[in-house]
Amino acid sequence: MSTNHNETVLSAQGLVMRFGGITATNNVTLNLQRGARHALIGPNGAGKTTLINLLTGVLQPTEGRITLEGHDITRLAPHQRVKRGMVRTFQINQLFDSLTPLQTLALTVSQQNGLGSKWWQPLGHGKQVAERCEQLLEQFHLTEVMNQPTHMLAYGKRRLLEIAIALACQPRVLLLDEPVAGVPAGQREELLQTVAALPADVSVLLIEHDMDLVFSFATRITVLVNGTVLTEGDPAQIASDPQVKAVYLGHGEELSDSGPYHGAKHPSGGSAAHEVASVGVQNHG
Ligand SMILES: Nc1ncnc2c1ncn2[C@@H]1O[C@H](COP(=O)(O)OP(=O)(O)O)[C@@H](O)[C@H]1O
Ligand SMILES: [Mg+2]
Repeated sequence: MSTNHNETVLSAQGLVMRFGGITATNNVTLNLQRGARHALIGPNGAGKTTLINLLTGVLQPTEGRITLEGHDITRLAPHQRVKRGMVRTFQINQLFDSLTPLQTLALTVSQQNGLGSKWWQPLGHGKQVAERCEQLLEQFHLTEVMNQPTHMLAYGKRRLLEIAIALACQPRVLLLDEPVAGVPAGQREELLQTVAALPADVSVLLIEHDMDLVFSFATRITVLVNGTVLTEGDPAQIASDPQVKAVYLGHGEELSDSGPYHGAKHPSGGSAAHEVASVGVQNHG
């Protein structure tokens, strides 16, 4: 396998998704490079979730194609994409509530190793599974809660477990869907650090509202608006892009040629204002 750094691992070309009269995804082209730390941002209703559903196979695009490591996967079912190395963070909320993190990971690792549900058997591959689980529990700060039922865990720990489960599936491409959404401030730092420490050889696409996470994590950012790619660039380019600032303020084209925007002149308090303030801070830091 090649280790070329400019190699596209996941590619969406000309994706269109229509729901009746609504075009949720409008001719979107997006390329994820091997080892990428790429963020997808955009205001509510921009089409982020729809795009992730297209990439993972939950939805079939009206037009366009998706390739993973050069293979056309446009018509593959979600589980077939997982088998080929593209994994989305697992939503544990209902499925594994009564299992502990150790049991959940043991199950996932065993299935990856082709052991089916025989993970508890003390012979054969049991040691390999146990070692991998131990590693994952450590890496995701779950060791001290590994024997608690998942429903008893703090929300931040549950989100960590979701990412741990995804990594247990040995992804080459990992799609992280709002990993810090709803996580209380006191539990965020651990999550941010863990996301930052994901293995370098895993290519990551992060969908996130939290601009602190986006700008601390991503080396590449795509901005989606009304189903269309508004722009793509490195964090410095995105932070200083007047179109991006305008979109996040909901002021549209008013700002296009009217000079730099100073957030302090506008009423604050809304989440969009907060997000743009973060962009501004990053821009000057
Ligand atoms: N299943 C659906 N049926 C009809 N419209 C949908 C459906 N899913 C999403 N949409 C519409 O597509 C647009 C993009 O939605 P979404 O992908 O959820 O945006 P985001 O995740 O960026 O907030 C919205 O206008 C939304 O109402
Ligand atoms: Mg969404």
